[in-house]
Amino acid sequence: MVTKEELIALGWEAREKAYCPYSHYMVGAALLGSNGKVYTGCNIENASYGLTVCAERVAIFKMVSDGCRTFEAIAVCTGDEGKEGPPCLACRQVMTEFCANFDVPVYDCSPDGSMWEHKLSELCPLPFVVFEKNADYHD
Ligand code: THU
Repeated sequence: MVTKEELIALGWEAREKAYCPYSHYMVGAALLGSNGKVYTGCNIENASYGLTVCAERVAIFKMVSDGCRTFEAIAVCTGDEGKEGPPCLACRQVMTEFCANFDVPVYDCSPDGSMWEHKLSELCPLPFVVFEKNADYHD
């Protein structure tokens, strides 16, 4: 099983792949799927700015498309030296759809080595849901 430190290191590695010619703001994400596999993502921007997809959602969608529907932890690696770079609200909502439970840890990592750890339930206390968590759609 991957450690917190290894997950964060994989998030930094994923950040190197960021495609962000418009914002120049590089983000990497790495998550641990409930199947024991790690999935990574980077932000992918578009000339039509609104089509940009955040690193977190790329990693989550890779997991889901690989057949795994829940994750245990996620690391998000941003470029703000010594500053928190928490996930955007859209990503928090998507995280609530695919978290193993609402208290999964979100590691918010800065290049200077600082790390802020939050439970998803703190970042998104009132998610929008249309079905009971862990109903048929989930593992
Ligand atoms: N971004 C992420 O990848 N994750 C977030 O949670 C916040 C924002 C990306 C989107 C865009 O490519 C760049 O950061 C600037 O907003």
